[in-house]
Amino acid sequence: MKIWPQTTTRVDGVISVGGCSLAEIARHFGTPIFVLDELDFKTRASTWQESLNRNFGENSGLAYYAAKAFISKEIAGWIAQAGLGLDVCTGGELAVAKAAEFPAERIELHGNNKSESEISDAIDYRVGTIVIDSLQEIERVARIAHNKGVVQKVLLRLTPGVEAHTHEAISTAHEDVKFGFSIASGAAWDAVLATVKHESLKLAGFHAHIGSQIFAADAFVTSAGRLIEVMARYKKEFGVELPELDLGGGYGIAYVEGDDPISADVALSKLAAAVNQECERNEINVPKISIEPGRAIVGPSMVTVYEVGTTKEVTLEDGSTRWYVSVDGGMSDNMRTALYDAEYSVWLTNRVSDSKTRASRIVGKHCETGDIVIKDVQLPSDIVPGDLLATPATGAYGRSMASNYNHMTRPPVVAVVNGTARTIIRRETHQDLLALEVKEAPVSLTTITKSGDQA
Ligand code: LLP
Repeated sequence: MKIWPQTTTRVDGVISVGGCSLAEIARHFGTPIFVLDELDFKTRASTWQESLNRNFGENSGLAYYAAKAFISKEIAGWIAQAGLGLDVCTGGELAVAKAAEFPAERIELHGNNKSESEISDAIDYRVGTIVIDSLQEIERVARIAHNKGVVQKVLLRLTPGVEAHTHEAISTAHEDVKFGFSIASGAAWDAVLATVKHESLKLAGFHAHIGSQIFAADAFVTSAGRLIEVMARYKKEFGVELPELDLGGGYGIAYVEGDDPISADVALSKLAAAVNQECERNEINVPKISIEPGRAIVGPSMVTVYEVGTTKEVTLEDGSTRWYVSVDGGMSDNMRTALYDAEYSVWLTNRVSDSKTRASRIVGKHCETGDIVIKDVQLPSDIVPGDLLATPATGAYGRSMASNYNHMTRPPVVAVVNGTARTIIRRETHQDLLALEVKEAPVSLTTITKSGDQA
């Protein structure tokens, strides 16, 4: 049950989350659908901030919830209420934070290519922190802040050169990546020197995010050690200490029974011990420590429910067979299997089956062979059209990476608690998609200077 939201119950084949039967939810709201366990989400959010406070004591900063995992105004409200910060990395995520009136001081703006207007909007909203990712951006943020007469607190994103043991596409802190300033190459120190020149920037410290879906604490510990060495160099060169260190997110969750993620307390107690030791060794005070969990908060709190539409037996080259079970969603609501070979679990949710299981593949309804929800799974052999399948742990990077491929409408998100269900994001309609299409008179973009010449 560890893969399912904390309020999940399974009685005689009836699976309920938040006191609501998934089959009832499907009947009432349709499928595919994301079901969000409100209590599970709120508990996880509080757990990360409380664990940070417990393990770092007076040196604890904020657990910034990574909005990219999944955000909406409602979620931003829950995060604000639980006392966490919010990590946003685009103008769109910032717009949600603003619409939710998220406390500006607790917002951190990320991104490796923030636009002028994103930076300007963030400064106008008075976000607490901007995390800078390139030399051009140092100048850009400094100029915009200066023009507004603001001194903006910033962190520099550093690349500690750590190999996080996860899928390459979600690993971010080895040397050959687009993110941050490399410590090893000297780029990090150059960035420090370029930042301190500006009176409109207040350098508060450093940030690193080493990757996602990480199960062991050792990579976080190595990364922290390398950042602390740069903090110590700063003290040596400037005679003062930087007050903040943000160690990023990336804490893994269980998608299938064999996954064994570390708890917030285990991860953060190891991190605290390492940070204390490294600060002592480098003769600096322990700075305020922040983290940025996304997946570990929202991932386990959502379940996707699909309806089966067709089934098909396919004979493989070796003579064995595979049972293809097609559901009414697919890669438009869950890109992760296609992108990262991600694994998921599944339960039949509308009835009990005691049929033997068979080797199956759950696929979506897109015109693409790679449109797979679960590549290899044992399913009861009596699955028929109309059955409902529920996939747990789809809260992070599920709805947030959903697309309209094949003009599919993105599924709704329904929050469940104490036997009640309410839509917090409605299902898209064909009308929503068609509404983007306009018929306008053409705009002339060339200026004719002389007859026949174009300027
Ligand atoms: N902080 C920064 C700067 C990040 O770039 C990320 C994730 C996080 C925090 C949150 O990481 P989390 O705790 O959620 O692992 N689409 C991929 C994950 C990409 C993560 C991008 N950055 C996936 O579905 O696995």
